[in-house]
Amino acid sequence: MDQITFHYDTVLSDVHMFLPKARHLMTHLNHVGQPGVYHISTKIHPSAEHTMATPLEDVGKQVWRGAFLLADFILSEPTMFREATVLELGAGTGLTSIIMATIAKMVYCTDVGEDLLRMCKRNVTLNRHMVEPAGGEVRVRVLDWLQHDLCTDADVAFSWKKDEIADMYNNTSVILAADVCYDNDLTDGLFRTLHRLCTNFTHSCVIFISLEKRMNFTLKRMDVTCEAYNHFTVCLSQLQDLGNRQCRFRVEQLPSDFAQFFLYERVEQLELWKVTSTPLPREEAQPDS
Ligand SMILES: C[S@@+](CC[C@H](N)C(=O)[O-])C[C@H]1O[C@@H](n2cnc3c(N)ncnc32)[C@H](O)[C@@H]1O
Repeated sequence: MDQITFHYDTVLSDVHMFLPKARHLMTHLNHVGQPGVYHISTKIHPSAEHTMATPLEDVGKQVWRGAFLLADFILSEPTMFREATVLELGAGTGLTSIIMATIAKMVYCTDVGEDLLRMCKRNVTLNRHMVEPAGGEVRVRVLDWLQHDLCTDADVAFSWKKDEIADMYNNTSVILAADVCYDNDLTDGLFRTLHRLCTNFTHSCVIFISLEKRMNFTLKRMDVTCEAYNHFTVCLSQLQDLGNRQCRFRVEQLPSDFAQFFLYERVEQLELWKVTSTPLPREEAQPDS
């Protein structure tokens, strides 16, 4: 097993997957960050290259429980996604996109950082035996929530082609985001991106956001709080209040008691949220301020 060095900013996802040709074991870090192992016996066996522990800027190289929760939801509701065009934001290793592509027609699997996107692409290639027979496709592309426009610069790895942008805007009916709300500035960027995308769609879209409500002790408050979660809920209600402009947003929390296809701990802090965006008829829409 790789030697792990724990730095002050090392973060651990608690979930680890097997590699191809390795034994089918899933490694699980306990509460003090020490690896333990247990057998994996899922009905579906995606393989994923991932990292055991990363500095904060590389969190996408680990698989997070929110990715499994969303993957379980997709497999529980296949008819909802059949033949759909789907966009995943902050896809990390690509697990959720790969599972989605076993049902949907096209999945734009997006994140930032060339290194991470390359790892994600390798995982997509590794799992094409699950995706191709189902007629699905995963395209790994760069999409930065802190940028206004999609990158079309052909010299940039994983940039978008013009026809892909048109396809994504014309056809995306589902947006996925797993465990992406852990930093308030990034959460703001994510919600700005969601708002921008949905107000540019001419059709309804359903957004599924999974997250884990994490309690942290902060020196600022001298108490245990879940600041990232609280900020997420504020962003959700702001999005809902932004209705009456080009688009109306309806927010609801879904029960998390659907079937479990993957082995991970479905802790009670794991939540799944659904946001439905519906474009307003032109006469009802107000210009955005
Ligand atoms: C905690 S990881 C979750 C990864 C994956 N969805 C999962 O659940 O395993 C958060 C993801 O958000 C991505 N991310 C962070 N900042 C971003 C930005 N500005 N634009 C797009 N993605 C970003 C990270 O690269 C990372 O992949």
